[in-house]
Amino acid sequence: MTKKSVLTFRKKKREAQKITMLTAYDYTMAKLINDSGVDAVLVGDSLGNVMLGHDDTVSVTLDDMLRHCLAVSRACDNAMVVVDMPFMSYQVSVEDTLRNAGRLMKEGRANAVKLEGGTRVCPQIHALVEAGIPVMAHLGLTPQSINTFGGYKVVGKTKEKAEELLSEALAVQEAGAFALVLECVPDKLAKLISQKLQIPTIGIGSGAGCDGQILVAQDMLGMTHGFSPKFVKVFAPVGDTIKNAITDYIHEVENGTYPSEEYSYSVGDEILDSLY
Ligand code: KIV
Repeated sequence: MTKKSVLTFRKKKREAQKITMLTAYDYTMAKLINDSGVDAVLVGDSLGNVMLGHDDTVSVTLDDMLRHCLAVSRACDNAMVVVDMPFMSYQVSVEDTLRNAGRLMKEGRANAVKLEGGTRVCPQIHALVEAGIPVMAHLGLTPQSINTFGGYKVVGKTKEKAEELLSEALAVQEAGAFALVLECVPDKLAKLISQKLQIPTIGIGSGAGCDGQILVAQDMLGMTHGFSPKFVKVFAPVGDTIKNAITDYIHEVENGTYPSEEYSYSVGDEILDSLY
């Protein structure tokens, strides 16, 4: 089977087929996701929250992304691997962006990078695409700017913000992005933007009118703790299953039923007798 790529995104948009994406940060989860047939895996900087226990994505480093991206890439022989450029790895200059994205492609073995923002990152998008690095853009709620937003909010509810979002979406398309993540955008606005763009939109909390969807895998498996946004559907309560399995393990170890003979290795009695 040929590995999925930017061509898959283009074809699916053209043929009005939905694109499926999930996040992954480690080999085991990425393998499960890849083998299930998803189109692309995002090594999201949400690994800061999900894997590293940070409150936000601001502290995530390029080294964090490189390590997790390589682990995910090793598992993905079918799904395309997109990796987030972490905060401040592309804001300083175009030169810096190219150097950092180059490392994510060469050392992390990603197939594309994702970065947050509109017009202000268009020079970076253009330069990356010119260098042969596909770029997924990200608009709406952009978590790396949490300190500017002052919280996680829906974006595009006023006429001014809706117009701004549409013009930013057209700008990143013009700069060469092959796809655009729309996070926490009202559903009808996300649908309208999707209809106006030639590149596919990937929604998260942005309704069914987007060309594809992405979720954090641990969210849709009920494995994350604390506040859960409205758009998260738990497809299987794996977190509860894990907790129950661990409670059973504790009980069986404590009462001596695990490990039974079935889970043990044997040795002949004559060997043991010779030791007495
Ligand atoms: O980091 C991430 O997981 C993301 C998705 C929410 C799109 O950017």
